[in-house]
Amino acid sequence: MKYQHCYQHSLAEPAAFWAEQARQVAWFRAPTQVLTEHADGTHEWFADGCLNSSYLALDHQVEQGRGEQTALAYDSPVSGVQQRFSFRQLRAEVAQLAGWMRSLGVSKGDTVLLYLPMIPQAAMAMLACARLGAVHSVVFGGFAANELAVRIDDAQPTLILSASCGLEFDRVVAYKPLLDKALELARHRPAHVAVWQRPQLAASLIPGRDLDWQREVQGAQPAAPVELASADPLYIMYTSGTTGRPKGIVRDNGGHAVAMAFALNQVYGMQPGDVWWGISDVGWVVGHSLIVYGPLMAGCTSVMYEGKPVRTPDAGSYWRIIEQYRVNALFCAPTAMRAIRKEDPEGQLLARHDLSSLRCLYLAGEKLDSSTHAWLEAVTGKPVHDHWWQTETGWPVTAPCAGLDGSGARSGSSNRAVPGYAVRVMDEEGRQRAVGEQGDIVIALPLPPGCCQTLWRDPERYRQAYLSAYPGYYHTGDGGYVDEDGFVYIMGRTDDVINVAGHRLSTGEMEDLVAAHPAVAECAVFGVHDEIKGQVPLALVVLKDGARQGAQSLQAELVAQVREHIGALACLRRVQVVKRLPKTRSGKILRAVLRKIADDEVFAPPSTLDDPAILGEIAQALRGH
Ligand code: COA
Ligand code: AMP
Repeated sequence: MKYQHCYQHSLAEPAAFWAEQARQVAWFRAPTQVLTEHADGTHEWFADGCLNSSYLALDHQVEQGRGEQTALAYDSPVSGVQQRFSFRQLRAEVAQLAGWMRSLGVSKGDTVLLYLPMIPQAAMAMLACARLGAVHSVVFGGFAANELAVRIDDAQPTLILSASCGLEFDRVVAYKPLLDKALELARHRPAHVAVWQRPQLAASLIPGRDLDWQREVQGAQPAAPVELASADPLYIMYTSGTTGRPKGIVRDNGGHAVAMAFALNQVYGMQPGDVWWGISDVGWVVGHSLIVYGPLMAGCTSVMYEGKPVRTPDAGSYWRIIEQYRVNALFCAPTAMRAIRKEDPEGQLLARHDLSSLRCLYLAGEKLDSSTHAWLEAVTGKPVHDHWWQTETGWPVTAPCAGLDGSGARSGSSNRAVPGYAVRVMDEEGRQRAVGEQGDIVIALPLPPGCCQTLWRDPERYRQAYLSAYPGYYHTGDGGYVDEDGFVYIMGRTDDVINVAGHRLSTGEMEDLVAAHPAVAECAVFGVHDEIKGQVPLALVVLKDGARQGAQSLQAELVAQVREHIGALACLRRVQVVKRLPKTRSGKILRAVLRKIADDEVFAPPSTLDDPAILGEIAQALRGH
């Protein structure tokens, strides 16, 4: 009942509902204006409120008596390091780092780009930016120099903070050469570049430009948190859209703080003093909401893990962490659990660990298949909850709300809409679909606090990408349906976005790279099913007349090209030469049909197809691969 009441109240009276939730936040000046609608259809939350997100995550926690509680428990099997920082220690580190950044000229409104692996300094750097009101943009370490350059040019940082290396399964990834190359490619020049030297690999610093982070930060005067307006940006998170140009999702301070308090407490059911583990990377939105800001602002201990689900050293690492840190709840991507299941199907490694502290597991980032779901519940003996959200929303859209008893959870579904989100399903004409019918999933405006309301320096692109398809609604880009009890089923993206091992990528961007090859006349890149990674990209290419290149060397060149431009995480490994591609009579390539053929799904050939015989040809080419 609590869920139903709360949900209905949130939609009927959003301003009153969120004004009440905002009281959970320690504002410097509490807002009196709750919801403001702008002429362009976007909204602003808590317009006249003032606060600081670093204060909320650190100083406020110390003031509440949690100074000696562990704020960040860092565990890195790849480097052999384990470190704990209490809220008091973390505040001291962050204040000093912010003080040093201020001495470099970084101030409110400046942007700072972070290209960092999963080390405590990444969390500290984010919080130090927030302390000064500088807008951070973290770039995931798996991206190549070109992707980094694109983000440098868009974010135009005053300062770049990086580290000498990241650590993968069995190799050290040198970050500095990638950063140097990105700075060569980028037009923008940051005033400073600072590098955290890790013992595994020392980076060479360019005199006059690069600073040694460890050395320079020593002795810096601590900086106090500055007062910020609710709408002042906290961070930019670049994410893949339908084009090669990433979208700079902007997160505000005030709406985000209220959303984090609600999410950690009401959705995930966490209380101050609890131990939370967000299994992700600081380079993704989950790393922002569920490793750094959410748990710390909620007074929880946050576990930060630099390792993989398997082979660091084995498929028992996750269970070891749960036992060692007495984790109460965690977030994880299904791909990680599939990787563990493959290596330890009977849960023998799991059985060696005490999971009694764990209340439940939350999975998201891609579709949770029912077999992995059932396996995970069986081996852990704990409830496993699928829930759905996006970089744009920053916190769950659908989830069982552990803090609001009564929401329940339904296997196979991503569960019901969280308070604040009016989830609807539309047909192409903008009519609401009936219960159980598939269509485009949209959210009625206003979006609740914390959701992205603009793109970095490109508000028009925001309106075009999210608000134009269905006036009055935010277009999620996901397709699916809602059942008679309000449970939401996410069937997948309706655009060019794919999820590879929980990493969001644009096939459009890969297509641009493949199409640029001199032997390629035309191509289609789309996501196909993968047992572990959920989806991986597959490229079908039609060669130019007279092109003499062999299929194998073409594949090697295209794979290298995508790796070089986007990064290893893109995982394009398969390229298939075909004679032609299926198109509609108006010339549009039927990517959805190609995906179904590649995945061996049964389907009716669309009536718009110009020549149905082509489908058999493609199926044969793929089977012969
Ligand atoms: N820095 C540098 N390189 C990275 C990287 C990083 N942060 N992350 C991934 N890569 C590289 C990998 O080393 C790999 O390179 P390779 O092709 O030379 O081997 C490539 O990108 C592909 O990585 P990945 O897709 O992760 O495959 P994998 O075989 O290395 O690992 C899993 C498979 C399932 C173990 C791994 O994908 C995983 O842990 N997934 C869970 C991810 C997750 O938690 N996502 C949550 C997001 S919210
Ligand atoms: P990201 O912005 O990287 O978090 O990716 C968001 C996308 O991941 C969504 O638009 C969905 O396509 C997908 N996704 C996230 N959670 C789920 C889920 N629980 N089930 C199915 N797809 C999901």
